[in-house]
Amino acid sequence: MLIKYLDWDSKFFGLNIGSCQPGVFSEENQKIFWEEFSKKDFDCAYLFFSHEDKKGADLAFKFGGLYVGEQVVYEMRREDWKGDSSDGKSAVLGKISEAEDIQLLSLARKLSETSRFFMDPKFRSFAAKMYEIWFEKLKNGKDSIIVAAFDEEKKIIGFIGCSITGNVGKMDLVVVSENCRGKGIGKSMMRKAMSSLFAKGVEKIIIVTQAENEAANKLYQWADFKLNLSENKKIYHLWRK
Ligand SMILES: CC(C)(COP(=O)(O)OP(=O)(O)OC[C@H]1O[C@@H](n2cnc3c(N)ncnc32)[C@H](O)[C@@H]1OP(=O)(O)O)[C@@H](O)C(=O)NCCC(=O)NCCS
Repeated sequence: MLIKYLDWDSKFFGLNIGSCQPGVFSEENQKIFWEEFSKKDFDCAYLFFSHEDKKGADLAFKFGGLYVGEQVVYEMRREDWKGDSSDGKSAVLGKISEAEDIQLLSLARKLSETSRFFMDPKFRSFAAKMYEIWFEKLKNGKDSIIVAAFDEEKKIIGFIGCSITGNVGKMDLVVVSENCRGKGIGKSMMRKAMSSLFAKGVEKIIIVTQAENEAANKLYQWADFKLNLSENKKIYHLWRK
């Protein structure tokens, strides 16, 4: 089987969604790919290509695949962390009040506009809902950490939502309110999120973003995260004609 059926995505979009890992959508596999695509009645397949696989990506484009960005993965190992340098301007949220919940949800919805789903006109109207669900899941997660920054009126103006799996921490959601960007709030939250995750005992922190997202890349590089180049993946959405 070349195309993996994605249960969650299919249910969420009400469509048949599949995905192909790097190397699968290739010249050699074309016949089997298309047989599978039509037999299983796929509406859309997410195609992933390694950074080097220009041929595969060109082929996806030739077949009408929509380029939706290059996924990049940043990592920081505990031994490379320079230690807690939190500036006191960001805090880990404990019990979330109703007002805070509304502010966080609104930021999560805004964050969806940087996602590959927002890039694709056929998924765009689902993107905000998808991030709401993602935020709710994170909020209710046993090992989740939400770091937030506030304005003078104690309104949340940015947050980083983190999860922990085993000894790996992940910053899943990173966002600053549009009118507060470029003022160091992202940096302040990063410091707090790193120290909070390492304090929980994780050995490594990862962040997934898109190569095209200049502000996010600058922020993570500023925080000394290193790109794991082997994880770079170009993504195309291939829709049924
Ligand atoms: C990414 C984001 C969280 C950064 O937060 P921020 O508070 O604006 O960032 P800071 O002010 O702390 O600046 C961090 C770095 O990003 C750079 N930066 C901020 N906004 C930028 C922009 N629009 N374009 C280019 N670089 C930018 C800053 O110059 C700084 O880098 P430097 O130290 O090398 O100068 C914010 O821009 C955002 O919410 N973007 C939309 C959501 C998003 O893309 N989230 C990340 C998804 S993985």
